[in-house]
Amino acid sequence: MNAWFEIRNLHVKLAEGDREILKGLNLSVNEGEIHAIMGPNGSGKSTLAYTIAGHPAYEVTEGEILFKGENILEMEPDERSRAGLFLAFQYPVAIPGVTVANFLRTAINARIKAEAAARNGGVVPHDVKGIPIPVFTRQLREALEMLKVDNSFAARYLNDGFSGGEKKRAEILQMAMLKPEMAILDETDSGLDIDALRIVSEGVNLLHQQNPRMGVLVITHYQRLLNYIKPQFVHVLIDGRIVESGGPELALHLEEKGYDWLKEPEATA
Ligand SMILES: Nc1ncnc2c1ncn2[C@@H]1O[C@H](COP(=O)(O)OP(=O)(O)O)[C@@H](O)[C@H]1O
Ligand SMILES: [Mg+2]
Repeated sequence: MNAWFEIRNLHVKLAEGDREILKGLNLSVNEGEIHAIMGPNGSGKSTLAYTIAGHPAYEVTEGEILFKGENILEMEPDERSRAGLFLAFQYPVAIPGVTVANFLRTAINARIKAEAAARNGGVVPHDVKGIPIPVFTRQLREALEMLKVDNSFAARYLNDGFSGGEKKRAEILQMAMLKPEMAILDETDSGLDIDALRIVSEGVNLLHQQNPRMGVLVITHYQRLLNYIKPQFVHVLIDGRIVESGGPELALHLEEKGYDWLKEPEATA
């Protein structure tokens, strides 16, 4: 039986050169579960996030990633998103010239059209319209309110000159608007002060309450984020492999003891 979201024996190398970063990673997330992956810097956490998203800098040499029974590695990045996957990145890119609102509306409309096309033999029916503006505006206003950001935020160019906290809010805003089935958040805590951390985490928690079937994978170096987004399962990633899995107590143990006790003896010597 497949898990709902399942990574099997994933090996990933940098597309340029021969360096292998992920060395046989396994992970299963079921509907509604919140998992955390923790690990020291350089262990491959962001590589995992980028690989799930389909970033061309990373090449899968072995293994599979199944989502609802389909191997997403065979899908284009936009198809992965339409399948219900969402990734919030550690370093989101700026898109000068495209406002937050326009970006969101374009993304929602692309999904509506693609879904209609999928039901219509691959062709977008000509009567398919995008999301009605009043509906979009209302949803956007609600999401901005939830993240405690001013309405003017939506008129700014995406991530262009954003502070660390604004970038994270923009990511969670996208998540609120796109309503994914599986959300993967890479280092959502980096660059956030405690207030911003709380708001972003509350946003994620609220979205999970609104859709209790949504799976969440939180990727973080620090335990602190997990005080706000509470995972049921914690996994430790070291040198491209999950070396330990447990419950929430594992995160606390790592906070206290660090990562060294899990490293290979030769690696710490
Ligand atoms: N695009 C890239 N180009 C060169 N090296 C990379 C790239 N992505 C990751 N790496 C290297 O792979 C290793 C794992 O990086 P990363 O996945 O970012 O780790 P983490 O997010 O756990 O800190 C690091 O040694 C990093 O320098
Ligand atoms: Mg990283």
